[in-house]
Amino acid sequence: MSSWNSPNKVLYGTGSSKTVGQQLVKFGCKKVIVVYDKGIEAAGIVAKILGYIEEAGIEIVKYGDCLSDAPDYTINEAGALARKENVDGVVAVGGGSSLDTGKGVCILLSNEPPIQQYFAQPSKPPAGDISNLKPLILLPTTAGTGSEVTPGGAVADTEHNTKENFVCPISLGIIDPELTLGLPASVTATTGMDAFCHAFEAVTSNDPNPFSNLYGGKALSLVAKYLARACKDGSDLEAREGLHLAATMASMSILGPYCNIPHDIGAVICMDHNIPHGIAVSACLPEIIKFIAPACPEKLRIVAKAFGIEDVSDAEIGDKLSKAVLNLMNEVNMPPLSKFIKTKEDLLASVPKIMETQNFFFSSRPVTEGDVTDILSKSWDLRN
Ligand SMILES: [Fe+2]
Repeated sequence: MSSWNSPNKVLYGTGSSKTVGQQLVKFGCKKVIVVYDKGIEAAGIVAKILGYIEEAGIEIVKYGDCLSDAPDYTINEAGALARKENVDGVVAVGGGSSLDTGKGVCILLSNEPPIQQYFAQPSKPPAGDISNLKPLILLPTTAGTGSEVTPGGAVADTEHNTKENFVCPISLGIIDPELTLGLPASVTATTGMDAFCHAFEAVTSNDPNPFSNLYGGKALSLVAKYLARACKDGSDLEAREGLHLAATMASMSILGPYCNIPHDIGAVICMDHNIPHGIAVSACLPEIIKFIAPACPEKLRIVAKAFGIEDVSDAEIGDKLSKAVLNLMNEVNMPPLSKFIKTKEDLLASVPKIMETQNFFFSSRPVTEGDVTDILSKSWDLRN
């Protein structure tokens, strides 16, 4: 028996963002809030999207103060604006944090603020009424989180310094690779490695299904083929198209098995040391591969295939794949943890919080406190 969730409707293709106004008209929207961050606005992407919406005769309310990791107070602020202006739809443009902010705004349009009361709790049904939400359209400008096909929103709880989640179904994701053409190489690399981790964690999970392996395997191949190319030449449209598809497929692959060791560790060190999400979740990947290799060599073969590694023994698969992933990380200039953390001891200080807040439920190998310490310690040594 297998279990997975089906994602929402998606429009994929170069130039597809030009239809956003028409899509809103189809949903019956007359006045929408558009949320984004200052970086995307400065890159000129927001002006284009606003133009497409205006051309369709739809009134716009702008919220341009989205921040990385979607802090709870920005969602509450944008939600209050949307409620005050009585908008009838939400459009989010940007990276994962802006898309998550848009999801939070959508929840607050139909539910009383603040967003904090809708955080998911273990063993409890989602809080808030999600049966009658206003239309929500997401336009990702990075090829990474795949937030446009996941009904979960991530938010930073600034009071407790933790990452929390809430549920918000999406009406439509518009995936236009053209929106990623101007991304700097550093953002391309970190978001691309986030997508890689989603697919990696899906296929190496203790609960994979036929779809997670299909989408995850394809996503891994696309990242291995195109990430370095897109980092070297940001205007390489074929590479951008491949990566954007990879990010969406990777996200679809993780809608049943769910994330495990890389994101479990990454979720904590990201918050503890203010590290961008894609760097935090991939920082320990080479050592995690070696750690899980004895437990699931056959699953690692799916990952290895993306790098052209075949006919390798169970004893060798961990080391060979770990080196291939490390080479990719070095080739795209993924920053080492020492760029954000002063000493190895500072990094290891996060271990108790990792064990306290993460359950490693979907890991193919049980994880002890000693294992986490070992993985972090070796990861620090490997790239510093
Ligand atoms: Fe992620």
